[in-house]
Amino acid sequence: MLFESIELTKRFGGLVAVKDLSFHIEQGEIVSVIGPNGAGKSTLFNLITGVHRPSQGRIQLMGREIVGLRPYDIARLGVARTFQSTTVFAQDTVFDNLVIGHRLRTASGIFGAVFGSAGERSDQKKSLAKAEEILDFLNLAMFKDEIAGNIPQEAQKRLSIGIALATEPKLLLLDEPTGGVNLQEDDSLIRIIQRIKKAGVTICLIEHKMKMVMDISDRVVVLSYGQKIAEGAPSAVSRDAKVIEAYLGPGYAA
Ligand SMILES: Nc1ncnc2c1ncn2[C@@H]1O[C@H](COP(=O)(O)OP(=O)(O)OP(=O)(O)O)[C@@H](O)[C@H]1O
Ligand SMILES: [Mg+2]
Repeated sequence: MLFESIELTKRFGGLVAVKDLSFHIEQGEIVSVIGPNGAGKSTLFNLITGVHRPSQGRIQLMGREIVGLRPYDIARLGVARTFQSTTVFAQDTVFDNLVIGHRLRTASGIFGAVFGSAGERSDQKKSLAKAEEILDFLNLAMFKDEIAGNIPQEAQKRLSIGIALATEPKLLLLDEPTGGVNLQEDDSLIRIIQRIKKAGVTICLIEHKMKMVMDISDRVVVLSYGQKIAEGAPSAVSRDAKVIEAYLGPGYAA
């Protein structure tokens, strides 16, 4: 098992954003987390990545407890994420965005950069090579030297995925990767997510667009008010009475 949360709870004052949540992700799966606004989905990602510390519960990556580790350490263990609002380094070129993404996890880090060590030079080479590889993989080569803030929204979405991929994650957390893009553009993002899976990266996806969830998920976990109300194959989850009541609505037909 690649990932597991055990009875995970996060309180913000009196609000329980995530409650007793246990679920797991197997190596190679795409697991989607769905549920109404405010259900605790993004909070779950903030717990996994160490941005927030859980009030209770455990989080394990490849059998190792990661609660209490800093976000940087969790990233180095192989967890990367994108954010619900597109976050690229808007003033930098597309290529530099990917180089920065890779350097966020390379070993010599800031010390090597300051002292110009041999390790630093070899890291820099790797960062450049990785950035080129991701440009091709995400079909972003045409935008290589453009300022990231100026490229189309959909390409910025791909770039934010690229920044996460540059850290060479085992587990990639995508928070609404198609938010703010139109339906035709969704298809290109869906294909990219499928290719990332093929490349051996395990994916946890938060998404409101049900067609996409149904098409690409191996399993779906449904949250409502922080609690898991259903889990299983997309087809089963979409017919679940609790899920229809809490989220999909009676008009939904899978
Ligand atoms: N840092 C925080 N401080 C206080 N409350 C928070 C914080 N982060 C999230 N919350 C609250 O926790 C609950 C869950 O929020 P979260 O952002 O995880 O929902 P979500 O499922 O991602 O919703 P959406 O689909 O709208 O993105 C909400 O009530 C939210 O207001
Ligand atoms: Mg959210």
